[in-house]
Amino acid sequence: MWEPTFGSSRLGAHVWELTFGSPRLGAHVWELTFTSYLNAVGRDGSGVGDRSEEAVVDAIAVLKADHREVERLFKAFERTGSRAKAAKGDLVKRIVRDLSLHAALEEQDFYPAVRAEVAGASDYVLDSLEEHHVVTWLCAELDRMRPDHERFDAKVRVLIENVRYHVMGEERELFPAVRAALGPARLRQLGQRLEQTKHLAPTHPHPRSPDTPPGNLISGVVAGAFDKARDAGKRVFDEARHIAS
Ligand SMILES: [Fe+2]
Repeated sequence: MWEPTFGSSRLGAHVWELTFGSPRLGAHVWELTFTSYLNAVGRDGSGVGDRSEEAVVDAIAVLKADHREVERLFKAFERTGSRAKAAKGDLVKRIVRDLSLHAALEEQDFYPAVRAEVAGASDYVLDSLEEHHVVTWLCAELDRMRPDHERFDAKVRVLIENVRYHVMGEERELFPAVRAALGPARLRQLGQRLEQTKHLAPTHPHPRSPDTPPGNLISGVVAGAFDKARDAGKRVFDEARHIAS
């Protein structure tokens, strides 16, 4: 029987320990060290780590690279024939994962910086959060839906429409305004922060979790750790099933 356990924490030792496994397959243990986390985000919370400035990609380039990758997956989905259910299911798993990570980067780091530092951008960010909210619910439904369900393809098409609209708005309106307001050095600092958050961010949608700081900073780390344990547990289960078959 598959028996996940979650949430053993040893804050005194600056370690969180997650276990996820089964009596048959053995337990798998992940450790999130708080010292690593603090190194990642910067002990003063500034997001400044050890990498040289030249090695860091700016925040807008990081977000645009995510947009290009998810558009590549959308096109692959659209090219895949209606009978290729398994292939479509695999593509949607990757789309849901990439969108979950991307939303976390924007909601935890990028949008708060934009609201604080770009004059007049607050309403735009609030609209963006509502667009994320719709996309996150669609992703959450797709995350649990079998690809042979009669609503699966329609739901993916609506997801794609929503994300394309959102991406177009960001790239045509928001990003140019942010680039002009923040400047290269601040965008590189923010880019480094985004890359670090990506290592800790959730890989599945959590539509009921907070989407603004400080709530999403805490829930994002916990959900990210849980998702990674869930993904690794699923991989172990799939490998064991493959060996047994
Ligand atoms: Fe966005």
